[in-house]
Amino acid sequence: MEKINTVIKNMLGRKSTDAFINESNTTELKKTLNIFDLLILGVSAVVGTGIFTIIGSAIVGSSDGLGAGTAVIVSMLIAALASLFSALAYSEIAAMIPVAGSAYTFTYATMGEFMAWMVGWILMLEYAIGNITVATAWTGYLTQLLKGFKHILPAFIVNCPLWLRNDFRSMYAMCDKYGWDVHDKMPFINLPFGVEIPCAINIPAIFIVLVLTILLIKGVKESTRVAGIMVFVNLSIIISFVLVGAKYVAPENWTPFAPNGIEGILAGTFIIFFAYIGFDAISTAAEETKNPQRDLPIAIIGTLVLCTILYISVALVLTGIIPLGSIDTQAPLAHAMRAIGKNWYAGAISVGALCALTSVLLVYQLGTTRIFYAIARDNFLPRNIMKIHKKFKTPHIITWISGLIVIIGSLFMDLNISAELCNYGTFASFVIICIEVLILRKTEPNRYRPFKVPFCPLFPILGIIMCSCFMIYKSISGGTSSLYFLLWVIIGLTIYILYGYKNKRNKDEL
Ligand code: ALA
Repeated sequence: MEKINTVIKNMLGRKSTDAFINESNTTELKKTLNIFDLLILGVSAVVGTGIFTIIGSAIVGSSDGLGAGTAVIVSMLIAALASLFSALAYSEIAAMIPVAGSAYTFTYATMGEFMAWMVGWILMLEYAIGNITVATAWTGYLTQLLKGFKHILPAFIVNCPLWLRNDFRSMYAMCDKYGWDVHDKMPFINLPFGVEIPCAINIPAIFIVLVLTILLIKGVKESTRVAGIMVFVNLSIIISFVLVGAKYVAPENWTPFAPNGIEGILAGTFIIFFAYIGFDAISTAAEETKNPQRDLPIAIIGTLVLCTILYISVALVLTGIIPLGSIDTQAPLAHAMRAIGKNWYAGAISVGALCALTSVLLVYQLGTTRIFYAIARDNFLPRNIMKIHKKFKTPHIITWISGLIVIIGSLFMDLNISAELCNYGTFASFVIICIEVLILRKTEPNRYRPFKVPFCPLFPILGIIMCSCFMIYKSISGGTSSLYFLLWVIIGLTIYILYGYKNKRNKDEL
């Protein structure tokens, strides 16, 4: 009995907020950022695969979800609201505990070791699986770009088999259409109990992830200037899509507005939520913001409003220029431009999308390594993986591990399933962050908070309810992503029981 008590006490053991702040050794950061800087940061972290690729699946349906149709604009508004409550909660905690490790660190300070490990484990899902989604989307846009050069490129490049670029969706659709057996067209891995998973060689994804992994090991740093340039490229491409496409909108394509009713809208919300991920980037800059109490909420709400207006405009144009059934799910914007004969714009969109996705890949892979690093530093994973490269002074082992996870995942994961899985991870971490705001208001009422969530406890509670409802809804409505999420949680639990708990104590005692 006493042993059980000790184990429970250890699992609930918190690391004090002060210990984190002291340990982080952060130098005094200069308070230089204003609203404009924060807006650039927000838009560059948020705009990517969601609007360039996933919007297609949200409209026409993913492998195991219904499509929202033009009503995807309602899905976007709901996703924006859920993001808003959680982003405000992130800002309060990030400004209060300004150290690396994001939600993992915050959880260690509020809910103890076990929950911290689970949150870290789920964050790895969010970042690493998110990157698998982005890498697969990258392949889609490269394919579209190459099609534009079909007159000068060899045919085997332009017509590269679908299974060499992980396009399961088109493969299944073609087999359905022509009555082919999918097993004759694509390799499968057979698992016990009759489970089989399609396996592809995603050559473009392997290429880009390898390049970025090597760059990250060599020490490439994201500067705000690069982020700023990327934002302008992204925004110009998106705005030009809206302006050029608007002339070709045929309002009859908007009816029926919601072909799958409320069910389609909710399924659309779950998947389009991916387009809003990345807000924590603004909140992590809280410490460097000149006037966080005023600027953070304005920047968060401003980014949300700006992205939502852009996303809704793109959705209206996309669903207005071609019939729902013709919307592509791999590179919908470029494909739509090609469909109306604007090949030149299609090429420009593909180039812009490739730039945007490359920067998201880079930021996410950097994020994965930071999470791994924070967890290994606390002895929940072998510390050897933290080794720093002698010449480049970067954590090369962790960087390779995170790159390999993305490469392996991109061989068999469908883009929609990986996006949904990433959304599960994000919803879960959002729920926890909102709970933490409520806990910290009780346990540390007097600690200085440069920024406070307005209307607390109402806003955090609304955040908890909305994000939990989406997770529950998706689990009940079926689909493989909820099973994968459960599997991920069980694996995390097993690693903690068999390795993390013991290793933490053995190493801490040394
Ligand atoms: N929101 C980011 C994207 O859409 C993750 O790529």
